[in-house]
Amino acid sequence: MAKVNDNYLKLPGSYLFSTIGKKVAAYAAENPDKKIIRLGIGDVTQPLTPTIIQALHSAVDEMADAETFRGYAPDLGYEFLRKAIADNDYVARGCDIAADEIFVSDGAKCDSGNIQEIFSTDNKIAVCDPVYPVYVDTNVMAGRTGEYDPATGNWSDVIYMPCTAENGFAPELPKTVPDIIYLCFPNNPTGATVTKDRLQEWVDYANKNGSVIIYDAAYEAYISEENVPHTIYECEGARTCAIELRSFSKNAGFTGVRLGFTVIPKDLKVDGVSLHSLWARRHGTKYNGAPYIIQRAGEAVYSEQGKKETAGLVAYYMKNASYILNGLKDAGYTVSGGVNAPYIWLKAPNGMTSWEFFDYLLTTANVVGTPGSGFGPSGETYFRLTAFGSYENTVEAVDRLKRL
Ligand code: MLT
Repeated sequence: MAKVNDNYLKLPGSYLFSTIGKKVAAYAAENPDKKIIRLGIGDVTQPLTPTIIQALHSAVDEMADAETFRGYAPDLGYEFLRKAIADNDYVARGCDIAADEIFVSDGAKCDSGNIQEIFSTDNKIAVCDPVYPVYVDTNVMAGRTGEYDPATGNWSDVIYMPCTAENGFAPELPKTVPDIIYLCFPNNPTGATVTKDRLQEWVDYANKNGSVIIYDAAYEAYISEENVPHTIYECEGARTCAIELRSFSKNAGFTGVRLGFTVIPKDLKVDGVSLHSLWARRHGTKYNGAPYIIQRAGEAVYSEQGKKETAGLVAYYMKNASYILNGLKDAGYTVSGGVNAPYIWLKAPNGMTSWEFFDYLLTTANVVGTPGSGFGPSGETYFRLTAFGSYENTVEAVDRLKRL
């Protein structure tokens, strides 16, 4: 008789953004006259830019001609895209990353969930608290996290690194040494960042202890301040301890198009085994590559015009971020993030829990955000707003919050 993977049965509730989606859909169905403004999931709202659209059209035309038609993409990505990524995101920043250390995929969410497969289930993971739920949930599915304690919201075999107002929402180096460390900067959900010196401490810690850092840099395009690293490979020694995850979703608006990549340097070895080889083996076996059409669109992001247009998109969303940040500060909220990230992290007012504030905001202001506790116990009493709405909706949402 077949048996299910009972690790799945340990997962409490549904995926955070599915739960929110269901709650909002139920409220909308009961209140069809209300104009709901959605600043919950970090999904973009602005269209793909002209250079990207042109690249997509021309790649579609290539598929209509036997001479230029493409079938399966190379497992690890087309060379034209891997080279554009290496040149622009790494070599141009003085980082030693080569095209053949880049694995093109259909997005950072999948990669951040799948990457744990190449590690032993005995490994102990460390995560920030609050954290992007995919890192923890996928380790639960793999059986790496022990038992869930509903009272604390913690898993028995996970090392939590609290990110609180006291430490500026940036974790301390853990006292118990983890095997795998998940870091995300600029951070989802808090919008916090670390300096290059601080990130260097993490790299040194990982190299000293034989830990691997899985570094999610999906929001790097939003960095506006100096001395905030755009990639972990700006740090010395990162080639021997770090994997980096990147996305085209947040900078170029590809959430519905799907494109991302993972960097695994060839120097990164665990017990003498190359993680690059393991991930290549996994990719080759389980994945047929992001579509040619989409990879051409990704290449266009790195053209001169593509870069200008992408910068325009980022500026558009960061104008929203400033509007939310300043508007809520003026209204007396305790608020952070929004300077190097498209997320604003605020304290729920009047002692409300995160979910109480979610319900209150949905029903009184018809604004949707994300309850901080959905990202982990230290997120309780916090709330995340995204800057990815339209400017008009963002202004209206902030005005509604000010009137509460
Ligand atoms: C978020 O809202 O945290 C992200 O958009 C989710 C994602 O990128 O998968």
